[in-house]
Amino acid sequence: MTNQKVNFKTERELQEAILQEKAKGTPDLEIGQKYGVTFKYIERLITKTQGLNISALKVSKKIKRLHPKDFKEEKTTVWSFKQRGNWTTHSGEYRGNWSPYIPRNVVLKYSKPGELVLDYFCGAGTTAVECKLLGRRCIAFDINDKAIDLAKKNVDFNVQSSQLTLLEEESHPKIYEPELSVGDARNLSFLRDNSVDLICAHPPYANIIHYTDFKKGDLSFFDIDDFLKEMSKVAKESFRVLKPGRQCAILIGDTRKKKHVIPLGFKLTNVYLSTGFKLRELVIKRQHNCKTTGFWYANSIKYNFLLLAHEYLPIFEKPKVSIPSSVRERDVDYGSVIPALEKPPLKRKLDEIETTTVWILPEKDFEERLNKNVIDRYSNGKGYSTITFVSHRKNEMKSTRGNIQKGNELLFIKSPFLNSNPSHSRIEYYLKKTKEIVDRELPNINKDGFIVIQTQDVRIKRYLESLAKRLVDELIHDNLWLKEIVIVTQDGANSQLKNSGDYLKIVHQYLLIYEVKK
Ligand SMILES: C[S@@+](CC[C@H](N)C(=O)[O-])C[C@H]1O[C@@H](n2cnc3c(N)ncnc32)[C@H](O)[C@@H]1O
Repeated sequence: MTNQKVNFKTERELQEAILQEKAKGTPDLEIGQKYGVTFKYIERLITKTQGLNISALKVSKKIKRLHPKDFKEEKTTVWSFKQRGNWTTHSGEYRGNWSPYIPRNVVLKYSKPGELVLDYFCGAGTTAVECKLLGRRCIAFDINDKAIDLAKKNVDFNVQSSQLTLLEEESHPKIYEPELSVGDARNLSFLRDNSVDLICAHPPYANIIHYTDFKKGDLSFFDIDDFLKEMSKVAKESFRVLKPGRQCAILIGDTRKKKHVIPLGFKLTNVYLSTGFKLRELVIKRQHNCKTTGFWYANSIKYNFLLLAHEYLPIFEKPKVSIPSSVRERDVDYGSVIPALEKPPLKRKLDEIETTTVWILPEKDFEERLNKNVIDRYSNGKGYSTITFVSHRKNEMKSTRGNIQKGNELLFIKSPFLNSNPSHSRIEYYLKKTKEIVDRELPNINKDGFIVIQTQDVRIKRYLESLAKRLVDELIHDNLWLKEIVIVTQDGANSQLKNSGDYLKIVHQYLLIYEVKK
């Protein structure tokens, strides 16, 4: 074994030399000694360029248990898994792989044993492993050949048909070996129209984590606009191959630029909707790896930004029959707009302020706590006004208006009313009214002040209308900059729920935080 330390002009040269050694099969220990780098450094480099540490392919995995302990199907729109899940061959070794609880929930909810599930961003094969365990057929592929090698290893385990997980009403257990290959999600030409029962996939996030060494077609290297353009090809193909009336679930998170959020989740949702899909559910998936103490906590207060702690799992549906884009409804009489004064909430101590994009507040005092959080973080308790839409009678709404003066730091627009009796015409009215209020009140808000809009998703018959997404789509203003999308939900909203039928119970609201630029 050589023990010479080699000098390189740039780190890139060093890294290329290490990658060449790795390709030759030189052991990590020897590479470390030759180039004076730690094992961790080699691992990080390999993971960065290949999406996984290829050494992982050599180690065979011990299976501790085949299924998760105490699994319960999710019944609400907020999904939260404290442990990512390590049953069968699942582990976190592939970069950005998703928790197996996600495909398990989606596959159980939206497919039956023996049906065909497609995952065109296979990665380490999390969806494929779940399909095998749940008795579903699966076709999965990925542009990264190393990922497919790892996925093949992960689906290579023994399971008896008596060990499959099926729901009570499901029968005929059979094991289907997943079909895995290298491929490009933008081209599904090998699949017939209307042939797939469910799509369940987790795309790379535009230019955040890279999976290959610049392989042509790897969507992780595209910037946001090009990523969305390429994803529209994926969405079109998805619509074509999916059977009518069936679902397509896609996990996507937001990203940040200059301490402001870029709503990638809503943008990608629009891409799928524009191909003809309808939105069946919009699930919020909580992330648990956010640091909320010490350095991050202090900085989140000092620079007034929140740590991203959620992703979106839109579940689209290909309609059975094409639905006209405008749904006819009777006109609604909205009554008058009555101004009223709101009592200012008490100021809270800074150390009680939420520091991530998911605020979980107690059921009791929910509204008060929410108001205090918003006002303490975004107005410093100085000047603020609130405007509230409330529903006082069926088919009517009014807005109450706080004392709006010039020189405010915060305008807080609250609209919890839409929960009751939503309709397309009410939504259009609400969006129009909100835009009018923003235009009218903007001159009264100081530069660097905030407009905060509290809103929520509503279900109209079979499909979901995300008012947060609609507002983000439509509130395009030279003087407004979207700073945060916050998810607010109640403590324990997930527990004690009986089966809610075919649809998830909506248990979250949104706060859209806009910064005033001028
Ligand atoms: C977020 S990862 C998926 C992780 C996977 N759900 C798992 O649990 O392992 C995204 C994957 O998309 C792959 N990818 C990027 N561009 C692709 C393309 N054009 N077609 C297919 N796969 C692609 C990457 O190689 C990466 O494995």
